[in-house]
Amino acid sequence: MSETAAPPSSLPQLRTATVVPSLLAADLSRLGVQLDALKAAGCQWVSVDVMDGHFVPNLSFGPDFVKLAKKRGFYVDAHLMVANPETVVPWFVEAGADILTFHAEAIKHARVSMTALRSSGKLAGLAIKPGTPVDVMVGAIQMCDLALIMTVEPGFGGQAFKPEMLTKVQAVRAAIKANNLECWLQVDGGVNAANIASAAAAGADSLVAGSAIFGAPDVGAAFLDLESKARAAFKS
Ligand code: DX5
Repeated sequence: MSETAAPPSSLPQLRTATVVPSLLAADLSRLGVQLDALKAAGCQWVSVDVMDGHFVPNLSFGPDFVKLAKKRGFYVDAHLMVANPETVVPWFVEAGADILTFHAEAIKHARVSMTALRSSGKLAGLAIKPGTPVDVMVGAIQMCDLALIMTVEPGFGGQAFKPEMLTKVQAVRAAIKANNLECWLQVDGGVNAANIASAAAAGADSLVAGSAIFGAPDVGAAFLDLESKARAAFKS
């Protein structure tokens, strides 16, 4: 285990493949209704995409979306697709995010920032883009409570899943196991009913889905369908 304190034990009861709806694809005019339907279906964890128009060519959510999801009792990961992640961390900590996920391509002081976040009682995540070698994640895995392998180029929902990223998932799953770490392995981008089993079988236990859930007529049923497929296929 890492030389820093053991990671705080949030989300322990979820230690099986879990589907995490990404609010970027939600119908914002009906967000409350959709969140309530997900809650009723047993969903406990949602992802808030934070985009600044610099790190990615798109703009999205601020801390208020984290507060909104927290008010409804969800665990929330804030996926920071911003050029200056260290600057925005206090805003999302204040908003109540449980996990803050930095991008390895943007974070300036990974060890300092992630250690500080952990000692503040939050979970620290690290993400890599499709073009970033998996060694970057394997080399930093001791600092991670969550390791995110992007399966699309970050910035937009509704893109096609990159199956070639699954070799990275397998490599990170092996590193988590070899180091006996408590770390979520997350995939994000283009996850749907056709490919979620392959991602879970490769070792992903946190599976972010946007359009596959919020594009469905019944978001609760879509969530349950994806989660049952992931849980049936998941290999730790
Ligand atoms: C993309 C975001 C994803 C996206 C997922 O940069 O990080 O969370 O919203 O949406 P789908 O599942 O539609 O690709």
